[in-house]
Amino acid sequence: MLRKNQFILVLFSLGLLSILLAVTQGNFVAAASLAQDPKPTPTIDRLAKPTMPANPVMADKGAQDYWLYCSPCHGDQAQGLTDEFRKQYPTEDQFCWNSGCHGNRPYPNGWTIPRYVPALVGPGALMRFPDGAVLKAYIQQQMPFQTPGILKEAEYWRITAFLLRQNGYWSGDSDLTKMLAEKIIINRDSTFSITPTTTMVPALISTPTPAMQQAALQDSNGAPSSPDVRTMAVLGMIILIVLSIIVVKGLKKW
Ligand code: HEC
Repeated sequence: MLRKNQFILVLFSLGLLSILLAVTQGNFVAAASLAQDPKPTPTIDRLAKPTMPANPVMADKGAQDYWLYCSPCHGDQAQGLTDEFRKQYPTEDQFCWNSGCHGNRPYPNGWTIPRYVPALVGPGALMRFPDGAVLKAYIQQQMPFQTPGILKEAEYWRITAFLLRQNGYWSGDSDLTKMLAEKIIINRDSTFSITPTTTMVPALISTPTPAMQQAALQDSNGAPSSPDVRTMAVLGMIILIVLSIIVVKGLKKW
């Protein structure tokens, strides 16, 4: 009888503990997402604005445009949104895909970022694009991801110049024009093309529905939000329910 009681006690403590953990972690996640700022404050060196040479060429200026508009998602070295790069962010900004941040339930009026943000520099990068002109057209039509097409034409050219130079497709020692960009080959085998649109279609922006906003708000009020937290809470409940059944049955017997 004593053993049974001890067993029940242990189960009861486990149930309580997991609920407690779930609640505290829920609060932690909510606090982290409240402090979330879509643009990371570049305090650490690797997040700092790139310095300009004395006589900057177009691609050098493009490096600064890239830093401002693209690096928060594509990385300081255009390596993509890697785990390693996210560790450069302040702790509360490292969990891009948390609920209430840029996860399935973004913060109110926020947006969702796909799990995979591709590298733009390095082996295999940009292989989708046949040449510099198509690359620029794509970037102008689709990027920045959350607000496509908002940059100035000149900024898109500068960023394209930077990316072409960083990948070694071009020396970068002159101004990049459409005519020149068409001649800078990235991947000869690519047949990818961009259909010109007069108005930029921000097709990729995820406009949060009122329900999504409500959910995000609930998250910031401290409700469990990540799947882990939810699993723990559910587990705790199940353990408690099973316990109640055992106790009730036990009471009848004993
Ligand atoms: C909010 C995050 C975000 C920002 C900011 C952003 N991107 Fe992206 N980018 C993405 C995601 C996500 C994809 C993948 C989209 C897809 O697969 O449809 C992507 C894809 C790309 C691609 C296609 C790469 C390939 O190989 O298919 C290019 C090029 C690109 N981005 C350039 C840029 C440039 C240049 C900027 C800055 C002007 C920028 N992006 C800003 C998230 C972002």
